[in-house]
Amino acid sequence: MKRIVSGIKPTGELTLGNYLGAMKRWAEMENENIESFYFIANLHAITVRQDPFQLRKRTFDIVAWLITCGVNPEKSLIFIQSMIPAHTEICWVLTNYVTIGELGKMTQFKDKVSKSSREGQVAGLFEYPVLMAGDVLLYDADEVPVGDDQMQHLELTRNIAARFNNLYGQTFKEPKGTVSKITARIMSLKNPESKMSKSETEDSYIALEDKPEDIIKKFKRAVTDSENQIRFDSESKPAISNLLNIYSAFSEKSIDEIVSDYKNEGYGKFKTDLGELVASKLDILQKRFKEIREDEEFLLKTIKRGNSGASEIADKKVSEVYEKIGLVYHRF
Ligand code: TYM
Repeated sequence: MKRIVSGIKPTGELTLGNYLGAMKRWAEMENENIESFYFIANLHAITVRQDPFQLRKRTFDIVAWLITCGVNPEKSLIFIQSMIPAHTEICWVLTNYVTIGELGKMTQFKDKVSKSSREGQVAGLFEYPVLMAGDVLLYDADEVPVGDDQMQHLELTRNIAARFNNLYGQTFKEPKGTVSKITARIMSLKNPESKMSKSETEDSYIALEDKPEDIIKKFKRAVTDSENQIRFDSESKPAISNLLNIYSAFSEKSIDEIVSDYKNEGYGKFKTDLGELVASKLDILQKRFKEIREDEEFLLKTIKRGNSGASEIADKKVSEVYEKIGLVYHRF
């Protein structure tokens, strides 16, 4: 049976990028031949200062959002990273099987530090990909469904696994990162050269909890180009191509069908229709979210089930690793 593992950080609002690039896909991948593990990466969240109350609240919000998006809590294991000590334990071990040079090459780290000085950054930001490697290697994942921005981290994960296996014999499965064809990289509505992200200006991203009128407004104000012709060309028309991808993901229509539907229309009509489509779909999700979020008992039951399933596997992996490198394993 194929095993899938992936995580999401409880920082700020969830965006359309998180939904299309990850959460919606996770729900669609569930089937009887797949074992799936989805977790709230709250240990990753603290590499940036968080308000403690908000961090805890958002952790539970995301559990509810995953179920809202269609992840079945009886089929997949949904768990909270900080509740499984094995994640922190494996991270420290793996830190010693990766070089400073490798971590310094990570694009996400370089992007973050280019905004301010390298010396002033917390070390956790640098270490981040090692924690992420541990998250995946603990579970012998076959596949890790993510957005394009995480692929480099998964390549590093494979390298760390191969290095460890070489030294100590087969211990970790080398996982494959996968992205969806059309939603691998949902771009900003204001700058189609950069990915849609909650850390950019508010009008550049759609939050899953945005009000319908704001969603429609944001799409209306999305940047386009001067051609006024709707066609897909990510090189010369990145803004329109991004909107076409979003349209396709929400309507389940192919890009060709949408292009043909709008062949005699201008950008104005296309953007209004897209805004209304997304607003109406998110409105349904928001109502479902509210119901699920209010059922604390159900959420706690879900997390308990997820944590216990995950820790059983993760603890075994840590004990195997400790044994191989000569560390005494404290849970025996
Ligand atoms: P995070 O929390 O930033 O994002 C969660 C998932 O959403 C995807 N995503 C996007 N996909 C397409 N277009 C976008 N604009 C967009 N924005 C976000 C991300 O690629 C991701 O799949 N480091 C991870 C969390 C993590 C993890 C892991 C993932 C921790 N450990 C182990 C996989 C496996 C992160 O920061 O994702």
